[in-house]
Amino acid sequence: MEKEVHIHDKTFVPFITAPQLQVRIAELGALINEDLKDKRPLIVGVLNGSAIFMADLLRVIQLPCEIAFIRVSSYSGTESTGTVKNVIGLTEDISGRDVILVEDIIDTGDTAKYLLDDFKSKNPASVRFATLLFKPASLRQEIKPDYVGFEIPPAFVVGYGLDYDGLGRNLADIYQLKS
Ligand code: IMP
Repeated sequence: MEKEVHIHDKTFVPFITAPQLQVRIAELGALINEDLKDKRPLIVGVLNGSAIFMADLLRVIQLPCEIAFIRVSSYSGTESTGTVKNVIGLTEDISGRDVILVEDIIDTGDTAKYLLDDFKSKNPASVRFATLLFKPASLRQEIKPDYVGFEIPPAFVVGYGLDYDGLGRNLADIYQLKS
């Protein structure tokens, strides 16, 4: 792990290591395996941020499952714009399905709220929400994710799928903005 990482105009310091991520993801996988025993869920990754988390989470899920990806956008630089846009929507029919939405991070909760409302309106059997990171202090929507990797303070983070203006997603560990 690097001591510091420089991306665009900002400096980031180590926060959550790759081994810590894998330990926690194995725990989340075990919970999902238990909760959805005898089900065949549709696991939906929210691009781009969840790509790496989704890949690792899927490998600890031992259920017969299908996967899909969608893409939404609300962020510009380090600030949420507040308006969520559907950039690539879902083509699968989710009526009667047990769905697990997989996100990298819940910050304001705008994206999670938008997705949960959208998915619930399509008559699924159930919708669960898994997020690797959760910033409860930034939340402005009434939502409660079902699976949370780590609750973190409201500082901006990069790595393991998360970016700062397009860069940093390929870092193996998670870094936090240096204060
Ligand atoms: P929300 O709608 O405000 O909850 O934000 C959700 C989306 O904003 C996430 O899927 C990320 O793409 C992005 N985001 C929020 N916080 C961070 C962060 O600390 N680093 C990188 N991206 C973030």
